[in-house]
Amino acid sequence: MAGELKVLTICGSLRKKSFNHALVRALPPLAPAGMTLIESPPYDAIPFYNQDVQDASGFPAPVVALADAIRAADGVIIVSPEYNWTIPGALKNALDWVSRMKDQPFKDKPVAIQSASGGPMGGSRMQYHMRMTLTYLNAFTFGTPEVLVSFAQNKFDKDTLELTDQPTKDFVKAQLAAFASFIQRVKA
Ligand SMILES: Cc1cc2nc3c(=O)[nH]c(=O)nc-3n(C[C@H](O)[C@H](O)[C@H](O)COP(=O)(O)O)c2cc1C
Repeated sequence: MAGELKVLTICGSLRKKSFNHALVRALPPLAPAGMTLIESPPYDAIPFYNQDVQDASGFPAPVVALADAIRAADGVIIVSPEYNWTIPGALKNALDWVSRMKDQPFKDKPVAIQSASGGPMGGSRMQYHMRMTLTYLNAFTFGTPEVLVSFAQNKFDKDTLELTDQPTKDFVKAQLAAFASFIQRVKA
């Protein structure tokens, strides 16, 4: 029993048929009792970070909405592909924007990472880089069990994108249960 926990998911892929977004959609039935998963507001309309823009007109509305959603959550799960061995640019840009806010939303926030990729590494290098960014932001980054979905095209239904691979479901479930305990420990 997790107690009542609101967990925000932030997906690092913007495409409609994204395996990572399919993974986000697969989470609710795998979550422990009491954990509610909420998808983040969209961040694809955020302009490239430029301090001149921030100085002239403040934080764009989608940055404020994303930061508010992170602050309101008990924990965050970042579910992202790996682009060229690192964090996709659109997601990194959104993180860069919220990182400049006074009440920096990731400070002391429990954060878990998941990734799905078409290759054998499952997005692991994105995860290492994300851990570095989250450390700088003073988040509490969850350790193990890790969720790395390699060869994602074999783990989701080709047409419906439903997560069909039972071992993947099992380790996602284990991570969500352990993340619930981690959040409770951080909150205590
Ligand atoms: C710009 C770009 C760079 C990529 N780089 C990597 C990579 O470094 N490692 C990897 O495993 N897959 C890489 N891929 C393949 C992705 O794993 C694959 O496209 C995956 O389906 C993307 O996630 P999504 O389905 O959630 O959009 C790359 C894809 C793109 C579009």
